[in-house]
Amino acid sequence: MAATLTIEEQLHLVDRLADAQWHSGEALAAELGISRAALSKRMAQLREWGLDLESRQGLGYCLRHPLERLDAQTIAQGCGQRWRVAVEPVIDSTNRALAETASAQDPQALLAEMQTAGRGRRGRSWQSPFGSNLYASMAWTFASWPAQLTTLPLIVGIITARAITEVAGELPGLRLKWPNDLWIDGRKLGGILIEPRGEATGQCRVIIGIGLNIGMQGDPEQAITQPWISLDQAAAQRVSRNALASALLRGLHAMLVEFASSQFAGWAEDWNRLDATRGQMVRLSGEKTLEGTARGVSEHGALLVETDDGLQAIYSGDVSLRLA
Ligand code: BTN
Repeated sequence: MAATLTIEEQLHLVDRLADAQWHSGEALAAELGISRAALSKRMAQLREWGLDLESRQGLGYCLRHPLERLDAQTIAQGCGQRWRVAVEPVIDSTNRALAETASAQDPQALLAEMQTAGRGRRGRSWQSPFGSNLYASMAWTFASWPAQLTTLPLIVGIITARAITEVAGELPGLRLKWPNDLWIDGRKLGGILIEPRGEATGQCRVIIGIGLNIGMQGDPEQAITQPWISLDQAAAQRVSRNALASALLRGLHAMLVEFASSQFAGWAEDWNRLDATRGQMVRLSGEKTLEGTARGVSEHGALLVETDDGLQAIYSGDVSLRLA
């Protein structure tokens, strides 16, 4: 009996189960040339990956929801080959891995079915179970350090919201929470983690990481510390991850070619239209703690908060915002 579970064997099983129909354990074991006991070990591993897998005596195994695997070629074609696209089945973090590639290959995008050490903001981890969500990182090199780099996460938020609308249709509750979150009806749909690299005087390479809950399965509730929502649920339909990735890459490319020579002022109105907290009491914590009424973003991308001491403009990207 083979003791090691290779990724290829696991992926073969995922592909066989992807239609969410019942598959007999006997047939699957025979296909892989393994015993039933070895098969059940592999199925246990798929459950550990986060797949919602049912098993029944006499019926075999069945995924509770159909699964569309990410496909690099489909995504690259869908964005007009503007990005070099790669897909990894399992990786620690797409942001980490992409940062180690050669910038000469940019623009590059790396997506994964699952991350074992997905990174969130402020040193938090990003729950990344297999096959249900979008974990994507994009590498882009600017000839020099763009003056308005701190506004990039805000603009990436707008582009992501547009891509979601293009693929899933209009979602009235879709909002942006300054500086990096996407929300639907007050629950977190996704987040953006931008990691710039390079010297202040030379080229500037940014790794743009986007994580979106698309069809989160199982019960990650315990692992995620704030209310969350999946796009499938919000849109009441299964959203194609490949189509969404292509739309995202198209939008990002069009924006990034203009970014270094553009001003945030041109985006502020769009951002404020999607603002989740405008007019509400908010509390900011981080380097500075303050409370007040959120008044949208300025033409420089700062969050404006009306406090007892007057209107404050917050620029730091390392603050958390809570509805007070
Ligand atoms: C946040 O904390 O809200 C930001 C989350 C960013 C997660 C994405 S998933 C793809 C990319 N790779 C990572 O390790 N993190 C980002």
